[in-house]
Amino acid sequence: MKTEAAFALLAAGSVLASPTSLHARQQQSLDAFVASERDIAVQRILDNIGPRAAGAGRGVVIAAPGITNPDYRYSWTRDSALTASALDEEFFVGNASLQSTIQDYIYAEANRQTVYNAMGPLYPWGTGLGDPKFWPNLTRFNGVWGRPQRDGPAVRAIALMTYINYLVGNDEVQTAKDVVWPVVINDLNYVAQYWGQVGYDLWEEVAGISFFTVQAQWRALVEGSQIAKLLGLSCANCDTEAPQIACFLANNFWNSTGNHIIANVQNTSTLARSNIDAATLLAPIENFDINGSCDNSQYQPCSSRVLATHKVFVDSFRSIYPINQGIAANAAVAAGRYPEDSYYGGNPWYLCTLSAAEVLYDAAAQFRRQGQLTIDATSLAFFQQIYPAAKVGTYTAPHGFNRGRAGLAWGQSAWGEQSWGCPSSYGSWRGSGSGNGRPAQAQSAFNDILLAMTNYADGFVKVIETYTPANGSLSEQFNRTSGQPLSAYDLTWSYASFVTMSQRRAGQFPASWNSTTGPAAAASSSCNTDGTPGSYAPAVAAGAPPVDTTSCTVQLHI
Ligand code: NOJ
Ligand code: NOJ
Repeated sequence: MKTEAAFALLAAGSVLASPTSLHARQQQSLDAFVASERDIAVQRILDNIGPRAAGAGRGVVIAAPGITNPDYRYSWTRDSALTASALDEEFFVGNASLQSTIQDYIYAEANRQTVYNAMGPLYPWGTGLGDPKFWPNLTRFNGVWGRPQRDGPAVRAIALMTYINYLVGNDEVQTAKDVVWPVVINDLNYVAQYWGQVGYDLWEEVAGISFFTVQAQWRALVEGSQIAKLLGLSCANCDTEAPQIACFLANNFWNSTGNHIIANVQNTSTLARSNIDAATLLAPIENFDINGSCDNSQYQPCSSRVLATHKVFVDSFRSIYPINQGIAANAAVAAGRYPEDSYYGGNPWYLCTLSAAEVLYDAAAQFRRQGQLTIDATSLAFFQQIYPAAKVGTYTAPHGFNRGRAGLAWGQSAWGEQSWGCPSSYGSWRGSGSGNGRPAQAQSAFNDILLAMTNYADGFVKVIETYTPANGSLSEQFNRTSGQPLSAYDLTWSYASFVTMSQRRAGQFPASWNSTTGPAAAASSSCNTDGTPGSYAPAVAAGAPPVDTTSCTVQLHI
């Protein structure tokens, strides 16, 4: 009711010719774009999954349908998992028809795990799990490629554990345990064994240790430890390695001079990089925990380090892309993977620009949940960019402030309180800052800052609206000069990122993964990157073939 009242207020305000009414009108048109593009995105994602996608096996997510400019009709473990996570959440917020696709995804991934590929087999050492790219029918891809990529097993485990949460909440513990967990434990064991070793980053270019990969690995093991217990099992290697990963994370990825997170450490390739990179926003998005801590060591969206990085990252594209010229220094612009990028000439990416929006919706939701936000020397420049009066200090929510719904498990009734696709949950405070037509009792600097953050986030979504063609198709990139879509039309990951952005913008977020109760980081003096060897077996109940796990005889595919 509260929300409806706030919306009624905004609607009434839009009749008046005031700046507020203009803002309200723009808001409504952006809402309409987001609602319609979200539907298109879900549909195009389904079109890119087998057997609907040409030549793709059941549940196999292809990166994009085109075979030229470039040929993306392959299946990447990473793109597939991030897409599955987006679908998990669409399912939870009410799109029941998606469940069979999620089940198909599990079937496909159980199979993928057993493919003997250029990195090796599943058994005995799990090395095959690190290969990033497969043909659409899941046969091995033999071309030269940046491999291994160690984020794949981590993000897949996260997508699958999100679904396990749903199963557990819906009296299907046995299915979770017998069918899904055997896929997950292979990935967790891989993470626990190899996280300290060099691999290629998510952009498949830098051989080193990537912040995105390590963040995802940390979450996978912290969550894996808890999910195992929930199922009456254990993940001993998760318990051993999570504190070591936390230790590594806490001690390696902050550039205090540049005031940003470092995208890659131990870069063994010859690529010179500023290390300013969308990977450092995609990581906190992947690890977003609505009940998370804003402490810097956790790198949650609301941490000062992530917000400082946001500013440095976005600013790095202001002058290099001609389409960003003339845009005010405090307004949203198009963003790419990293400033030095030269792939297809180096352009803005839909998913990277969207990540700049999503991470801010996440951070605002966390501040809102906590009822306060603290600005420190690290985050001051970020806040002053969008709210010039910002000062170092703590801002608290006004009395009676609505902190949003309590963290409930997926599938529980909280989701039912909100109509799917309706951006209403922010209504109660989106319209409650200073200015005309807003409830006076809700005015506060805290509200104003949250409003500035979400308006800034909306700005990135507006950039996407500007460069989305009329048919709603999202490619991988858009040209830095003309703004025309470019490279890999209908990129599945672009759509997935639009969907997760839309969820966060609508105040729909996953249940907490209890990041704050995870094991403490090991002391930096004893931070150990050796990893713990684990065991690997085909997830037969999920549909994997029973590949040999008894002898050392392996078939060679050359
Ligand atoms: C293909 C990769 O997928 C992409 O990320 C990379 O930029 C290009 N190869 C060039 O290395
Ligand atoms: C290139 C991107 O750099 C990489 O992250 C992605 O996995 C592939 N394209 C497929 O979309």
